[in-house]
Amino acid sequence: MNMKERLQELQEAARRQIQESGQPEKLNDVRVAFLGKKGELTSILKSMKDVAPEDRPKVGQMVNEVRSQIEEMLEECKTRLDAKMREEKMKAEYIDVTLPAKKSRIGHRHPNTIALEEVERIFIGMGYEVVEGPEVEYADYNFTKLNIPEDHPARDEQDTFFINDSILLRSQTSPVQARTMEQGKLPIRMIAPGRVFRSDEVDATHSPSFHQIEGLVIDRNITFADLKGTLQEFARELFGPETKTKFRPHHFPFTEPSAEVDVSCFKCGGEGCRFCKGSGWIEILGCGMVHPNVLRMCGIDPEEYTGFAFGVGLERIALLKYEIDDMRLLYENDARFLKQF
Ligand code: DAH
Repeated sequence: MNMKERLQELQEAARRQIQESGQPEKLNDVRVAFLGKKGELTSILKSMKDVAPEDRPKVGQMVNEVRSQIEEMLEECKTRLDAKMREEKMKAEYIDVTLPAKKSRIGHRHPNTIALEEVERIFIGMGYEVVEGPEVEYADYNFTKLNIPEDHPARDEQDTFFINDSILLRSQTSPVQARTMEQGKLPIRMIAPGRVFRSDEVDATHSPSFHQIEGLVIDRNITFADLKGTLQEFARELFGPETKTKFRPHHFPFTEPSAEVDVSCFKCGGEGCRFCKGSGWIEILGCGMVHPNVLRMCGIDPEEYTGFAFGVGLERIALLKYEIDDMRLLYENDARFLKQF
C-alpha cells in the first residue's frame, strides 16, 4: 500500500470513529488515537524516512491535509455534541415558572394561644410582668400558704390529683402568687398563665386539664378601687369599650373581700340572649384583696403592704371570644376546627 492509500484509509477510519463516538469523552479518545503523540498519524510521519527524499514535501503536505481534515471533523462533531448535551440538560432542568406555587401549609395559633397573647398584651401594657410556676406543686403552695384550710373540699382527693401527701398537680395558678411574694421583691405586678389540673369528667364545660391566668399586685396603698379599675379596663380591652362590669360578693380563702366579676354580654349588649342565658351578664373571673394571712405567710407585712389578686380561666375567655360552644373542641386538634381562627 502506498502512502496516499494509507492516509486515505486513515482519514476514512477517523471519520467513521468520530461519527460513532456520540460522547465528548469518546471523541477525545479518537483524537488521541489518531493525532496524539503515539497516534496513527504520528507513526506515519515517523515512517517518512522510508519515503524517497524528492517525494517527502508532497507526502508531508498530504499528511498535513489529513491532520487538518481530522481536526476539522473532530471540531465539528464536538460542536454538535455540545449543543445536543446542552439541549438535553435544558430539557431535564426545565422549570415552568408559570406553574402555580405549591402551597406551603403552615400551622397557626390555637384559640387558647390567641386568647392568652391577648390577655398578656393587655396586662403587659399596664406594666405587669409575665411569670411562671411549676405544674407539679407542693400542697403547701397550692393550699396552705393560700389560707386554704385542712378541711377545705378542694383538698379532697376527689378534686385534686395528688402525687403523694405533699405533692400534687396544681389545681389553680394561685400558688404562683405565694412563690412570687416569697421572693421578697416589692412591689409586685405580675400575671402567671399556665396549665392546671382537676379531677373532673370531660364534658362541654369541664376538662381534667385546663388553663388559668393568675394576677397579683402588691404595693403600698393598693385598694379595692385599684382592683376594680384594673379589671374594668381589662374587660373593656378584651370585649370592647362598651363592656360593663359587675362585682358580685363571693368567697375565696386567699382573698378578703372577694368577688366574682361578670361582664355585660358582648353579644346582646346586656339585654339577654341565648349566649348569656338571658341574664345579660357573663361571669369571667374571681378576684379579691389578698388576705392578710396570705401576706404574712409569704413574708409580707400586711400593715405596710396590701394587694389584689385575680384568676381567669383561659379556655373560658377563648370560648367566649370565639363563640365556641364546646370546650372539647379546643383539645381534639381537629384541623377543620382549628383552622377557623
Ligand atoms: N384560684 C381560683 C380558682 O381556681 C381563682 C381565683 C379567685 C384566683 C380569686 C384569684 C382570686 O387570685 O383572687 O377558682
